[in-house]
Amino acid sequence: MPVRKVDPANIDAAAITEAAAIITRGGLVAFPTETVYGLGADATSATAVQGIFNAKGRPSYNPLIVHAADVTAASRCVTSWPAMARELAERFWPGPLTMVLPKSPSIPDIVTAGLPTVGVRVPNHPVALALLRAVSVPIAAPSANRSMHVSPTTGDHVAGSLGGAPDLILDAGPVAVGIESTVLDLSATVPTVLRPGMISADELRAVLGRVEVASSHVPDGVARPSPGMMDRHYSPEARVVLANSHSLVEAASAGHRVVVLARTVVPDRSITVWRMPENAPEYARLLYGMLHRADAEGFDTVVVEEVPPDAGWDAVRDRLRRASR
Ligand code: TXA
Ligand code: MG
Repeated sequence: MPVRKVDPANIDAAAITEAAAIITRGGLVAFPTETVYGLGADATSATAVQGIFNAKGRPSYNPLIVHAADVTAASRCVTSWPAMARELAERFWPGPLTMVLPKSPSIPDIVTAGLPTVGVRVPNHPVALALLRAVSVPIAAPSANRSMHVSPTTGDHVAGSLGGAPDLILDAGPVAVGIESTVLDLSATVPTVLRPGMISADELRAVLGRVEVASSHVPDGVARPSPGMMDRHYSPEARVVLANSHSLVEAASAGHRVVVLARTVVPDRSITVWRMPENAPEYARLLYGMLHRADAEGFDTVVVEEVPPDAGWDAVRDRLRRASR
């Protein structure tokens, strides 16, 4: 499959022109954002967007996020741009915040899985922004992985998960944030976090006042506020087991080929241990890479030392819980 390496500090204009031409003719381009790599298509074309669902094996009830080059382009994807959206955009865009608002008729129903709302964001990555500026349309892009699998944080992860499905992969190396954007529903009576991310509920409250957080414990098969938030999600092939620092060795004895992701302790010299950072942003940046690596190296079990209960770890804790289902 065609891969173009792109230096984010010195972007190759020819690679962007090629990628933009693919989007314009209805094809699929995998591209880096600051959170994870996305699999992009023209968000205004139902046929192009169908290609995303096919490539990912994504269920049609799971809506896509629409990416825009700037606030003006984002506001054209929705029917109204309330003061809350304006304030959040000023504070957090470009950045890892997706806002859910009533959708404009220019966005076909397939993008939003038939919902009357659409999730929009302006990503904070020079390659994503260059691509968005080069096309005259917004780009619908879910994470560039097979449905239910771990999101890609490098170009190699994309190629490993989607093979030849993208017409082009723009590979700009590892991403900075490492887990998916915070999804905030602004169409609700009270703004509600549907998916935690590295922009925390408290940071949103500092701008908006009241913000609720949707329960992440809705069992599979039950109607949920964000249709994509399946309980089992973000899972590697290996089984993921969460354990506290005292029970890591015991948990490790449950598998054949086991790797332990340890944050505070190194349990036992006879066990494979990968050290994880002690601060949440660094941990988030590396987590999916570790899960991909565990699969690539044939581990059948990943034992993960539990992370702190603090709010700063909410998004990481959410992804670990889902991975361990
Ligand atoms: O960081 C990210 O958000 C990455 C990069 C590529 O931007 N994208 C991403 O997309 O994670 P995806 O498709 O893997 O996750 C989209 C999430 C799903 O949980 C989906 O249900 C939710 O956003 N979502 C999208 N539109 C929605 C809507 N109209 N109402 C409620 N939830 C929505
Ligand atoms: Mg995803």
